[in-house]
Amino acid sequence: MTAIAVENLSKRFGRKQALSGIDLAIAKGEMVALIGASGSGKSTLMRHIAGLERGDGGSLVRILGDIQQKDGRYGADMRALRGRIGVIFQQFNLVARLPVITNVLVGILGRISAWRGTFGVFSKAEKRAAIEALGRVGIPEVAWQRASTLSGGQQQRAAIARTLMQRSEILLADEPIASLDPASARRVMDVLADINRTEGMTVLVSLHQVEYARVYCDRTVALRDGKVVYDGPSDALSDSFLTELYGAASEELVLPQKLPVRPAAADPATKADAHAGRHVDEKTKTFEPA
Ligand SMILES: Nc1ncnc2c1ncn2[C@@H]1O[C@H](COP(=O)(O)OP(=O)(O)OP(=O)(O)O)[C@@H](O)[C@H]1O
Ligand SMILES: [Mg+2]
Repeated sequence: MTAIAVENLSKRFGRKQALSGIDLAIAKGEMVALIGASGSGKSTLMRHIAGLERGDGGSLVRILGDIQQKDGRYGADMRALRGRIGVIFQQFNLVARLPVITNVLVGILGRISAWRGTFGVFSKAEKRAAIEALGRVGIPEVAWQRASTLSGGQQQRAAIARTLMQRSEILLADEPIASLDPASARRVMDVLADINRTEGMTVLVSLHQVEYARVYCDRTVALRDGKVVYDGPSDALSDSFLTELYGAASEELVLPQKLPVRPAAADPATKADAHAGRHVDEKTKTFEPA
């Protein structure tokens, strides 16, 4: 079944054509990378798929077979569909002053009564499930800490645990690793890949660091100026295409070939692991073998 079906999606903000005629179909259980230079429309596309934004006339978005929006109007099942999609962003995913477990429990708010949610009344079983979800992403020990005390990578993993609690079927991750160091970035990507594999969760992840698309996703969709300019196997993306894709911004582009492929095994990663096997040249932002 098609999890995400986008047809002829266009969006204009004033004079800016942010998306034009996007066609995209993602099957249930796929993990797809979304790449493109800054301003190419990655976040805008994600927001439409999440049902947070409406496209212009002629646009159609179907989620799990149901119409989520058509011609700029939300479908009747809109609210239910939103609950089936988990969304995580680059940052600000958690309420900083609340304990991590409460942040994770927020995932079930769509499924329990309003008053229980409002007063933060969660059952023992729900709390146990939240800690289990944190265990699933490798950080059960931080459950009772305030979210503000977590590292960036831990915060992203807690946000993923929240979508597990939500029991979402589709996970949209908009640059979830953009502000993380390489070791934390890998751990977050490992968790996404693991959830995709074991839960069959459909994952669409936008990435600035293109090398992760190659390592973690079989398929990559590339945007330029609001249009899909590539949709195919990640390992067929050539350096010259990527350099052209990122244009003037290509000095910040990290080419895929230079990242050693690592096994997808669970990782008790250490600090040393952060720079294992490669060297990051801060000036040129390219990876070179160590
Ligand atoms: N609410 C808005 N109002 C006006 N313009 C917008 C709005 N949202 C996005 N845009 C414009 O649409 C274009 C696409 O933006 P978008 O944020 O989707 O790019 P992006 O690929 O996510 O970039 P980045 O890599 O920097 O996150 C940009 O030119 C942006 O300025
Ligand atoms: Mg963006």
